[in-house]
Amino acid sequence: MDRLKDKIAIITGAAGGIGRVAAELFVKEGAKVVLADKDSENGAKAAKEICVLSPNSAIFFPLDVTDKQSWGQCIEQTLNTFGKLNILINNAGVSFRETVEETTMESWQTTLAVNQTGVFLGIQSALEVMKTNGEPCAIVNTASVDGLRGDSVFFAYCATKAAVEAMTKCAALCCAENSWPIRVNAVAPGYILTPMAYEDARQNGQTIEEYCAESVKLHPIGHLGKPEDIAYAYLYLASDEASFVTGTTLAVDGGYTCR
Ligand code: NAI
Repeated sequence: MDRLKDKIAIITGAAGGIGRVAAELFVKEGAKVVLADKDSENGAKAAKEICVLSPNSAIFFPLDVTDKQSWGQCIEQTLNTFGKLNILINNAGVSFRETVEETTMESWQTTLAVNQTGVFLGIQSALEVMKTNGEPCAIVNTASVDGLRGDSVFFAYCATKAAVEAMTKCAALCCAENSWPIRVNAVAPGYILTPMAYEDARQNGQTIEEYCAESVKLHPIGHLGKPEDIAYAYLYLASDEASFVTGTTLAVDGGYTCR
């Protein structure tokens, strides 16, 4: 119940999918949460629904993770509302099903802006306030099995998710070497049934049933993941239970990367 008691968290990409489920779990575990997403309609709705379960436990902020100024405003809103920041979950992401030949400048730049620059700006903005708040803090980034393995049809996506792992290690070392009380880790999900999976099926001209039947073969455990599977990994890495864990990428992938 209280694994995140008195912690204040920002979760990006929290209007739907994994981020939405993580926001609710974090509140159940005692945190107050800023749901940050560029999708204002679903983000505001999600924060409202969470507040019905636990009054004054969540707000929505219309964050564009690719924009430094937007990050500054999000942090300011967090401090004004809840007084501090302990946890950042860099969860927002986009994917395009394209090989190296098919990748356009537009999709390349969008993927880099959200998945890579967004994580960089998030880490940089959070460090600024976390390093002086005097309490244990944690940043969790979202990588992917596609950052650990190549996949010919996700060229830009794989590139950014591998970069997330590298940024995680570099930022973790920077915090440790400066004795800042901040741990930085990443989670690498296998395939999870979220709106992103539905969109991927659509881009591949498949029904969701066809998509699942094909994707499940990549996961030795015999099924795809649920958003909760990733939310619990975020929870562990964000909590003080993981106080000796920094700079690591935790694969939550049903055995995908064992092969
Ligand atoms: P989703 O598509 O359901 O949710 C992503 C959220 O990010 C959306 O609410 C969207 O509005 C938000 N977003 C996109 N661009 C943004 C921006 N510029 N600023 C702020 N918010 C923005 O995706 P899902 O599946 O929940 O993915 C969450 C994370 O998990 C992503 O980083 C994704 O790459 C990663 N992941 C997902 C996998 C899956 O199979 N679903 C597998 C491996 C990693």
